Amino acid sequence: MKDKNLLLHLGDFCKKFDVYLQLWSKNSNFPDRLINSISYINSSGGKRIRPFIVCQTANLFGVNFKKSIAAAVSIEMLHTYSLIHDDLPSMDDDDLRRGKKTLHKKYDEATAILTGDSLLTESFLLLAMNYGDKNPNMCVNLSLHLAKSAGGEGLVGGQILDLYPEKKTFKSMTKMQFMKTGELISCSAAFGAILGNASKKDYDNMILFGDKIGRAFQITDDLLDLSGNVKVLGKKTKKDKKQGKLTLVDFKGVDKSKIIAQQYIQEAIELLSKYGKKSNVLVDLSNYIINRSI
Ligand code: IPE
Ligand code: IPE
Ligand code: MG
Ligand code: MG
Ligand code: MG
Repeated sequence: MKDKNLLLHLGDFCKKFDVYLQLWSKNSNFPDRLINSISYINSSGGKRIRPFIVCQTANLFGVNFKKSIAAAVSIEMLHTYSLIHDDLPSMDDDDLRRGKKTLHKKYDEATAILTGDSLLTESFLLLAMNYGDKNPNMCVNLSLHLAKSAGGEGLVGGQILDLYPEKKTFKSMTKMQFMKTGELISCSAAFGAILGNASKKDYDNMILFGDKIGRAFQITDDLLDLSGNVKVLGKKTKKDKKQGKLTLVDFKGVDKSKIIAQQYIQEAIELLSKYGKKSNVLVDLSNYIINRSI
């Protein structure tokens, strides 16, 4: 039943969040085609887990929505770019995302690539515009953390290894999964600590919390690819095996993979215990990450 409260909470957040996402991810100087493609991808839904983590972890350190929203939008813009590129024919070749046509199917490949490029670039512009003048130090820390999480040693490097594994071992697979998905989720939690000027201890704690839920998140994504419902999930299933993608399930099987994801969530929740009641929503979110069907 806790999940239900969480879903109401997340739903309320999405309503507020989506207004800023639409407002800040484009502007009237952009060509119409780009404005339209960005509007299309933004209005296709999405769980908004990463921005929710930014605002909720910031809240742990006394930072309100008004101060955390730009950082939250920045992360979601970067995540959206990664999905647009992930779906391209040269990568996962998907034609369904969030229950709608993928961007290259709705428009064309060039528009999809460039829309991704725009979201990636503008995500950093948004940080500079919102935090640069008021708090240059904070702005540098946010930008540094995002760049490291999204670049060659993070998301992009992970996507390369997903497509071109260097080794087919358990260790390299888990590393690849953390890089492609975990790093940005961990960055979302680190953003909360940076926005809240938290102590080094709390900052490290948030990174570790994000690390745990990030790992559980990708394991669940892979389990949903195996047994999820296309209509609910909004993306095609049973693709990983067909495309020769290595996941935890290949090494541990379905049941053990579920247990491993549960263990990560348990450890994540333990990391929240020192924040008391203030972390209740993050506890529910952690549980939702492995119980979700979407
Ligand atoms: C899907 O992410 C891609 C992965 C990193 C596993 P989400 O499941 O968060 O996608 P949306 O944003 O909710 O559609
Ligand atoms: C995507 O992983 C990770 C990133 C987009 C960085 P997947 O390829 O498994 O994500 P889905 O299943 O297409 O959403
Ligand atoms: Mg992929
Ligand atoms: Mg994919
Ligand atoms: Mg997947």
